[in-house]
Amino acid sequence: MRVKVKKIVLITGAGSGMGRASAKLLAESGFKVYATSRDKNKLVNLANSDIVPISLDITDQKSIDNVVAEIVQRDRKIDILINNAGYGVVSSVENFKEEEMLDQFNVNVFGMLRVTKAVIPYMRKENYGVIINISSFLGKIGLPLFTLYNASKYAVEGITDSLRYELSTFNIRVHSILPGFFDTEFARKNLVTNMETFDVNSAYSKLASQLAPKIIEQINNGNDANEVARLILKIINDVKFPARTTVGDKAKKFIPMRKELSDEDFERRVKEYYAI
Ligand SMILES: NC(=O)c1ccc[n+]([C@@H]2O[C@H](COP(=O)([O-])OP(=O)(O)OC[C@H]3O[C@@H](n4cnc5c(N)ncnc54)[C@H](OP(=O)(O)O)[C@@H]3O)[C@@H](O)[C@H]2O)c1
Repeated sequence: MRVKVKKIVLITGAGSGMGRASAKLLAESGFKVYATSRDKNKLVNLANSDIVPISLDITDQKSIDNVVAEIVQRDRKIDILINNAGYGVVSSVENFKEEEMLDQFNVNVFGMLRVTKAVIPYMRKENYGVIINISSFLGKIGLPLFTLYNASKYAVEGITDSLRYELSTFNIRVHSILPGFFDTEFARKNLVTNMETFDVNSAYSKLASQLAPKIIEQINNGNDANEVARLILKIINDVKFPARTTVGDKAKKFIPMRKELSDEDFERRVKEYYAI
């Protein structure tokens, strides 16, 4: 009897939220999953015969090279890459520090590119691959104080579009998922606020105090991360799946509205909605 070779998945930022939910669902669905986090302790309860926890820092090329080498040594290939790790800086442009700007792109954009670049040769060799980039509906819609995060996710959308052309001849599919607000660790641990912007004496204090609590509340009462996991499974299994797709209530509400309205009308609606 021939044993069916499992497809090999690499997920970044699998310590919590969407990454963790996806690791679990894909393992339950017959994939072998390499679940990565900067902190391996976060992965302890996730490990089983189909989930291999590995430390990975996507801002460190050596760490990426080591992880890719380890997977290829064990399983010869990497079939599916889920670029999920990400966080958000909340700051006015006037206040953000050079380090905050560089870090935002180092993780959300350059980290994603580094991991993708390291994995492509192995997908190309197998003439098969699926790369799924976790973007955001804020990759198509701007919000005040989210300029750095917006810019990073708009970049993810551009990366997806370009890579699709570049890799289609090698039978490697590239997709992006634009989630709305999801109840994960994101608002609790991975939204970094700029002290100056949030200072009571800041010129942006009124905007920050009006907008930030609403966004945090919407994230913490957002959709379930398992919805993203189920969507990822669907994309992997459907060779005809569209390039990008929204998931979650807020993305499904705002993305079509963004397409239908003029820039100015859309802006007015957002201002009314958040009372800013
Ligand atoms: N939650 C939302 O409302 C929402 C909406 C749209 C898009 N997204 C996107 O969805 C993705 C997953 O987020 P989530 O909602 O599942 O949030 P989460 O539970 O906070 O998970 C985020 C993951 O990203 C990793 N990460 C955070 N900062 C990092 C850094 N500086 N360097 C490397 N890795 C870092 C973390 O990995 P470690 O395990 O290493 O800590 C963590 O596991 C992110 O790309 C986020 O931008 C989230």
